[in-house]
Amino acid sequence: MERTLVLLKPDAVQRRLSGSILTRFEQKGLKIVGMKLVQASPELAAKHYDVHKERPFFGSLVSFLSGGPTVALALEGREAVATVRGMIGATDGTKASPGTIRGDHGLSVQNNLIHGSDSVDNAHLELALWFCPNELVSWTPVDQSWIG
Ligand code: RTP
Ligand code: MG
Repeated sequence: MERTLVLLKPDAVQRRLSGSILTRFEQKGLKIVGMKLVQASPELAAKHYDVHKERPFFGSLVSFLSGGPTVALALEGREAVATVRGMIGATDGTKASPGTIRGDHGLSVQNNLIHGSDSVDNAHLELALWFCPNELVSWTPVDQSWIG
């Protein structure tokens, strides 16, 4: 079982898409092990996207992610990292395939609704950045044996 960090970015919250996006993950069989609404500080947003700090869009990206509330999710399941990335789709909404979250809901590159960790190692780092250990809940869904 893997865990991954998902962020429903401020544009998803502002556009009232949080519930419908969360439904996709629940219907897929992923388990919610952490969930909260966060007003990210510019410092948290900068740490989250530290890998992009030399990129020309970094300042705008930090302003965007700290510009409104974000829903932070910790999701668990078999191959959760790659599964979630597949469901999210390509970075640019115009390139993201129909059926993906970005492909179905966005046209923007920056305002692309959602983040998902891109590797198991980064998932560990990002979960530690957004959640305290006691905010993550280990539990067994009643339908676990039917989900795999
Ligand atoms: P994310 O990290 O948010 O899951 O997105 P990603 O892996 O698909 O894309 P990444 O290359 O890691 O870029 C991080 C976020 O930066 C914004 N971006 N803006 N203006 C630009 O050219 C540009 N490129 C990327 C997007 O918000 C992207 O999700
Ligand atoms: Mg990324």
